[in-house]
Amino acid sequence: MAETLLELKGLTKTFPVGKRDVLRAVRGVDLALNPGECLGIVGESGCGKSTVARMIAQLTEVTDGHIYFEGRDVTRLSRPQRRELWRSVQMVFQDPYSVFSPRMTVGDFLTEGLVYFGLATRQQARGMLPELLGRVELPAELAQRLPHQLSGGQQQRVVIARALSIQPKLLILDEATSALDVSVQRQILKLLMRLKDEMNLTMLFIGHDLAVVRSVTDRIAVMYAGQLVEALPSAALRQEASHPYTRRLLESVFSTADRGRKQIGIEDLSQIEKGQMLEGCPYQPRCPEAMPRCADACPALAGMGPGHTVACHARKPGNAR
Ligand SMILES: Nc1ncnc2c1ncn2[C@@H]1O[C@H](COP(=O)(O)OP(=O)(O)O)[C@@H](O)[C@H]1O
Ligand SMILES: [Mg+2]
Repeated sequence: MAETLLELKGLTKTFPVGKRDVLRAVRGVDLALNPGECLGIVGESGCGKSTVARMIAQLTEVTDGHIYFEGRDVTRLSRPQRRELWRSVQMVFQDPYSVFSPRMTVGDFLTEGLVYFGLATRQQARGMLPELLGRVELPAELAQRLPHQLSGGQQQRVVIARALSIQPKLLILDEATSALDVSVQRQILKLLMRLKDEMNLTMLFIGHDLAVVRSVTDRIAVMYAGQLVEALPSAALRQEASHPYTRRLLESVFSTADRGRKQIGIEDLSQIEKGQMLEGCPYQPRCPEAMPRCADACPALAGMGPGHTVACHARKPGNAR
């Protein structure tokens, strides 16, 4: 197998809450990503997806655990080292407009990274504009425009083009299509899949809509209350998903298939916060299969089959790792 591009080991993030409490936003996440792979992270709002992404992209400090990038420990980098990693890991967020400067033309915005990282002079970078825009299926004339003159879908295409301009090794898309109309979202997902094939991109695709995440990824990691509860190949999701939470997500997505997809509802976060106080499995308060043991000890991830791991006391691994 190819060398792992990214590996998370026991990745943990706590935020202080008030004077004494801490919020355990991410708890001991183990995850690996191979070159050329598209890995999805799914889970409801507040489960820690963005915090994982921000730690990988060196935008938030790690509380505990490790991040390895191309085999190198990048958990705690100095500023110059972080700059180098910023070139390798690019992140696209939900709201494209927020990353533009309102008075900067699309052309200047698109060439900024190339110049900043010394990959091209300003003039050379301007010469690359038609190609950079063409890659995301936008006409070269758009380079003259200001961000507010573009539609939301065009803005997000420009943001993707800029992220790709510096040839990152990893592209993280954090709810990058969630705010777009369904038809625009579909076009951008198609674009991403084409770019992934053409450029052999490695992607981390984060979302709260399981059907969307499944449609563009090779593998899916499901998070609940800061923890990774299951990871499995996207193609096996419907047949082999095993964790009670993943099953519930699947039911909420696919049970109404005839009437169009239903999004996973954003649930009462106070429930999750309560779960965080417990010693045991975070899903235990909501789990229909909870046993006494689930309140006492947190289940560890165990192998269920090829590329499939589950953290659940109620599941008996077929061939544990
Ligand atoms: N800077 C912060 N300070 C305090 N709490 C935070 C901060 N960022 C995120 N959180 C909390 O961490 C948890 C996970 O947040 P986040 O990673 O944004 O979740 P998701 O992206 O899955 O919606 C939430 O409870 C959120 O309120
Ligand atoms: Mg988020």
